[in-house]
Amino acid sequence: MDRTTTTLVRGMMMADLQAVLDIDHLSFPIPWSERTYKYEIEENPSSHMHVVEVLEDRNPRVVGYIGFWFIVDEAHISTLAVHPDYRGQGIGELLLDTALKHAVELGVKIVTLEVRVSNHAAINLYRKYDFIIVGSRPRYYRDNNEDALLMTREN
Ligand SMILES: CC(C)(COP(=O)(O)OP(=O)(O)OC[C@H]1O[C@@H](n2cnc3c(N)ncnc32)[C@H](O)[C@@H]1OP(=O)(O)O)[C@@H](O)C(=O)NCCC(=O)NCCS
Repeated sequence: MDRTTTTLVRGMMMADLQAVLDIDHLSFPIPWSERTYKYEIEENPSSHMHVVEVLEDRNPRVVGYIGFWFIVDEAHISTLAVHPDYRGQGIGELLLDTALKHAVELGVKIVTLEVRVSNHAAINLYRKYDFIIVGSRPRYYRDNNEDALLMTREN
């Protein structure tokens, strides 16, 4: 991260929307819509969204984000992505760590998520944070009918 001097994790704001949508389109075959993000940021009381911002030549730039839904005592990771230019630098880990700590503050007992069976980078990241595979959802992803792995981490 040569040109990057500071990294900040903070709550996602409406002003982050375009940067988040750009990363989303670069990261997922079925990106979320602008409307979905607006709902998650402004209306959904269960949704907790964070971004990572770096200083790039002194200009702040959003380079990754994570979201989770918190219901009763369960957190479900809803989304996680890092801009392709910034992958492999610990930003995904920083985001996951932030979300998990926030969920612990809220009193989480179990964290769940779905991940494509072919997504080795994400599966490795989740394993590193003690998630285990507890099941699968056959043909879960509608773009290519790929199976999802269901992973959980108990607090
Ligand atoms: C998954 C993703 C968020 C990881 O973010 P990242 O910032 O590149 O990851 P980090 O640099 O923090 O790496 C943390 C750990 O993830 C795993 N990992 C990350 N990239 C990996 C790769 N290319 N291959 C294998 N494991 C990888 C490793 O366990 C790594 O730990 P290590 O460095 O000690 O080996 C990123 O690849 C991404 O945005 N992918 C597209 C969107 C996506 O798939 N999101 C997850 C949906 S479930």
